[in-house]
Amino acid sequence: MTIVTPSEAATTPSAVTFPKSFLWGSATAAYQVEGGHAAGGRAPSIWDTFSKTPGKTHGGDTGDVACDHYHRFREDVALMKRLGLNVYRFSVSWSRVMPDGVTVNPEGLRFYSDLVDELLNAGIIPWLTQYHWDLPQVLEDAGGWANRETAYAFENYAVVLHEALGDRVRQWTTLNEPWCAAFLGYANGHHAPGRTEPSFALAAAHHLLLGHGLAVHRLRERDPELELGLTLNFTDYRPADPASAGDVDAARRLDGSFNRFFAEPIFHGTYPADALEDQAGLWPDDLIHAGDMELISTPIDVLGVNFYTGELLTGADPGEASAAAASARTEGGPNPNVGSEHVSSVRRGLPQTAMGWEVYPQALRDLLVRLHTDYTAEAGVALYVTENGAAYDDVVEADGSVQDTQRLDYIRRHLRALHEAMEAGADVRGYFVWSLLDNFEWAFGYAKRFGIVRVDYQTLERTPKASAHWFAGVARTGVVD
Ligand code: NOJ
Repeated sequence: MTIVTPSEAATTPSAVTFPKSFLWGSATAAYQVEGGHAAGGRAPSIWDTFSKTPGKTHGGDTGDVACDHYHRFREDVALMKRLGLNVYRFSVSWSRVMPDGVTVNPEGLRFYSDLVDELLNAGIIPWLTQYHWDLPQVLEDAGGWANRETAYAFENYAVVLHEALGDRVRQWTTLNEPWCAAFLGYANGHHAPGRTEPSFALAAAHHLLLGHGLAVHRLRERDPELELGLTLNFTDYRPADPASAGDVDAARRLDGSFNRFFAEPIFHGTYPADALEDQAGLWPDDLIHAGDMELISTPIDVLGVNFYTGELLTGADPGEASAAAASARTEGGPNPNVGSEHVSSVRRGLPQTAMGWEVYPQALRDLLVRLHTDYTAEAGVALYVTENGAAYDDVVEADGSVQDTQRLDYIRRHLRALHEAMEAGADVRGYFVWSLLDNFEWAFGYAKRFGIVRVDYQTLERTPKASAHWFAGVARTGVVD
């Protein structure tokens, strides 16, 4: 693997042009933007409960109001239209459409039906994500994703959504970033439901994947023409010192428990053997039933890729690693990287976003080529970058504008890297900037702003930032300078 130095990464060659068919969009998620937490019969999700638990989110922020997209979606669709975006990736709040996890709430469904109509009237493709982390609280009370029954509830939920929206929504993502839902939710407790049991995290991961497989299987039966898939998050892990066995092993471990952990079952019907070994003793007995892996690897059409950053890693020599991991499990406090607890990341001195994430666009190129080579080409699956973007501490100028040149540059450099991946053969068909709006950034609350459109949380006024104006030009022309 080649490590790109900051000076190489900063060079800017001439403009690149994307194919006419390339889709340009933006993404959001229900709990992060909708608000309307008690409107139209919606019941609490695990994020309502978690965010209202003292100390769980920055400043006690909640999604009660968020961007009030629930009431302002028509304004937001009009904004997307003005920006020339041709696709909008949104998620459905399960507890809005099935407040008790089982019974359908027509008023909740109507919101999404109206949103879809509004998008279609504006010439924008609706791209639906079924699950972006907000499990109905009532299902969590019954064991949440650690309970196998939740996977079957998810299948029913897919059918309910398809019944209501399948005539107009053709692009269907089952899960968003199941790694976060399982490991941040159940292993280190930084996300809802805030549990800290590694074996529950593994159970949650398996049941999320099972729910995905059941839903894809069912939706395919109902309509073979749907474009079905899921969105995974990938981080570029490389050894800090390629000559150090410990560092090489650290990169292998995290690649296994984070990147390959979900891609392998989806495309090859198995969990990565090395990750299973690293996680030995933590897997609950009888978790994987006969037929599960076949369901999980039901063919899909689209792999959504969320990409933000890469990390250089360092770790103990392989021989000592298992012992170090075991002691870190007991001594180091909850860690989301089940089986890789002793691994740590090393800064390489690259510029960082407000999240502290290093900006490393070359990794996006390498990742897309790798996914194409290792998984998607053979399976005939198209790649879409379903999230990419950056939080920065925006400044509002005296004239009300936001000159977010760092965010603009982040997106521009990642688009150029994406284009390089396409030139190298990766079948990438679209890009969604995260996010359309500043919004509720989970445990960070409203303190981190990812939007290309600023949201004033006092007035809820929307103001496109410089990056939005620039991105509109890219969407219009397909050219990135
Ligand atoms: C990935 C998640 O899907 C999204 O909800 C989150 O806001 C962004 N990453 C930024 O952290």
